[in-house]
Amino acid sequence: MRVLVTGASGQLAHAVRHIWQDHELILPEESVLDLGKREALFSVVAEVRPEVLINCAAFTQVDRCESEAELAHLINATAVGWLAEACEAQKAMLIQISTDYVFDGTGARPYREDDPTNPVSVYGRTKLEGERQAATCSRHLIARTSWLYDAWGKNFLNTMLNAAAQGKALRVVDDQRGAPTTCRALARQLQLAAAQDWRGLVHMTCQGETTWHGFAQAIFAAKGMAVDLSPCTTADYPTPAQRPAYSVLDGGRRRSLGTDLMPDWHKALREVVEDPEG
Ligand SMILES: NC(=O)c1ccc[n+]([C@@H]2O[C@H](COP(=O)([O-])OP(=O)(O)OC[C@H]3O[C@@H](n4cnc5c(N)ncnc54)[C@H](OP(=O)(O)O)[C@@H]3O)[C@@H](O)[C@H]2O)c1
Repeated sequence: MRVLVTGASGQLAHAVRHIWQDHELILPEESVLDLGKREALFSVVAEVRPEVLINCAAFTQVDRCESEAELAHLINATAVGWLAEACEAQKAMLIQISTDYVFDGTGARPYREDDPTNPVSVYGRTKLEGERQAATCSRHLIARTSWLYDAWGKNFLNTMLNAAAQGKALRVVDDQRGAPTTCRALARQLQLAAAQDWRGLVHMTCQGETTWHGFAQAIFAAKGMAVDLSPCTTADYPTPAQRPAYSVLDGGRRRSLGTDLMPDWHKALREVVEDPEG
């Protein structure tokens, strides 16, 4: 398949580049495919004529989205509508990546795809609108994921390892629960989903759940590092954007569609530590 991937410099696109190797991959730099530029976007899609377009690009800085809401809306929502239109013209499948932050986090059991959304941040609201825009393409798959990381890229794992390397004492929030998910596991599941022509909205996270503090503990244990790590609350560490306190996603629909490749999050973390190149 000819596959066009946006957001080439991001951590998920990096995983797609490694994992979707049997396909003809086109990953333009942002200077060529800037989601904020409608005409450029249409001309790249028309020129490449992809069978599948994976939108890995997004304005992902959750706190910055609060003060730059217009830009967040342009990249995370409006541009997804343009991608949907461009894919429709090429009869291509649009794979949109969405987020657990479409939920408000007041739930007490894993969220299903049809549970009501209620984002509590600009990022979450714009990503939810992005889901709606993606759904205007007749062949679309919207994969909601959470807490993405891998050995590469800007993410929680690398933030923790860098801070620990500086000998800092670390306080990490212990009252937000979610599922850390590796980019490589998501890229594998997306590849299978595209091959099996999955459609609609599907939750794709690693299995199990933890808190950010629990995740940090597991990272340092897996790396064999002794670190001065202690728990704190969200209230101790105020941020411009509110985060859902509980954002575990139910994987039932994914399991019912075909082969479920999403591993338990502990296993996925071990893979990253033992094989950082992926
Ligand atoms: N990270 C998470 O924890 C998480 C959780 C749930 C869902 N997601 C979703 O998963 C997807 C992949 O996220 P990720 O973690 O791989 O994010 P990432 O590493 O931040 O990558 C996003 C990429 O999009 C690029 N980008 C930003 N604005 C752009 C524009 N106008 N045109 C083209 N590219 C642009 C960024 O470039 P610059 O770096 O140059 O800005 C970056 O390379 C996103 O849709 C995100 O919303 C992420």
